[in-house]
Amino acid sequence: EIKKLTEELDQAKKLIRKLEAKYTFDDIIGTSGEMQMAIEQAKVAAQTPATVLLRGESGTGKEMFAHAIHSDSVRRYNQFVRVNCAAISETLLESELFGYVEGAFTGAVRGGKKGLFEEASGGTIFLDEIGELSVSTQAKILRVLQEKEILRVGSSKPVSVDVRVIAATHVDLEQAIRNGRFREDLYYRLNVLPIVIPPLRTRKQDLPALCMRLIHKFNQEYGRNVERISESALARLMQYDWPGNVRELENVLGRAIINMQFTETVIEAEHLPELQQHRQQQESKKGWTDQGETVQTLDAVLSEVERNHILKALHAASGNKTKASQMLGVSVRHLYNKLEKFNIKV
Ligand SMILES: Nc1ncnc2c1ncn2[C@@H]1O[C@H](COP(=O)(O)OP(=O)(O)OP(=O)(O)O)[C@@H](O)[C@H]1O
Ligand SMILES: [Mg+2]
Repeated sequence: EIKKLTEELDQAKKLIRKLEAKYTFDDIIGTSGEMQMAIEQAKVAAQTPATVLLRGESGTGKEMFAHAIHSDSVRRYNQFVRVNCAAISETLLESELFGYVEGAFTGAVRGGKKGLFEEASGGTIFLDEIGELSVSTQAKILRVLQEKEILRVGSSKPVSVDVRVIAATHVDLEQAIRNGRFREDLYYRLNVLPIVIPPLRTRKQDLPALCMRLIHKFNQEYGRNVERISESALARLMQYDWPGNVRELENVLGRAIINMQFTETVIEAEHLPELQQHRQQQESKKGWTDQGETVQTLDAVLSEVERNHILKALHAASGNKTKASQMLGVSVRHLYNKLEKFNIKV
């Protein structure tokens, strides 16, 4: 009996964790006109089965919006499945998305395997970073959107799936279409309800409320009792442009709280880590005065520029090397080599 109850409790805990992990519209902070419009559009979208395309810079809350739309839709009691299109390798992607039948390839599980589209049936599939998909995978996704059915790898029997698709990207898809990197037909299928999430620098009035929300979150996570952020610390945050948006703010506050004594309850300016803008200004100033005295070699100057630029990308990507390499347009391996060359520790 006890064993049975323990099992039930575990199940319930799992369920709660799953439910808690989801964001709702109440979690989204945003008072600017643009943000209110995005929230309004997302709420309307939630009541329809239509495909939604979330657009916005890195860290603006695209994933949060996707969760909120799912949580507010009739599908909320079914699965929300997130697929990071940038992270799954091209060779695995098809079997991950569509599943496979027994004997489809060596190493295939007996009895075959459901793909993520089937997992999400009745619920929502969130295709994150859709701009990173290869053109051939784009064709396969297009097929699902058009036919509402999938083909497991190794099978010729279509399975119908009932999923709401939410896609997200920080990529300029129109530009990608012009460069032949994104299929126009898929773009039109996805762009049924486009929602643009504005960057933080255009809505700095949200900073105080965002800070309070994030402080509350960190208190729970770290078991702290931080009450607020001081006026002078907030003023510094207001001066900054936040290239990494809310995710960067989250990192900055997280680091500030780590810098605080347990007895301190107010985040002061001195707790804040250095913000990138300041660092960049200082570094470029140093570079120019040096140049007046002795002429540096071209190599040294280029290295300096390269180093600063990599730091900037890492900062904007909150230290995520895969993301930083994408921003820089180089392979992750190339980035690692550079980090070693410039002795950058992340
Ligand atoms: N409007 C908001 N209100 C409260 N928290 C937010 C808001 N926007 C973003 N956040 C928080 O910022 C973090 C980043 O959000 P999210 O992961 O949704 O962004 P994203 O656009 O998917 O970013 P990326 O492009 O880096 O994947 C999350 O921890 C989220 O909780
Ligand atoms: Mg995201």
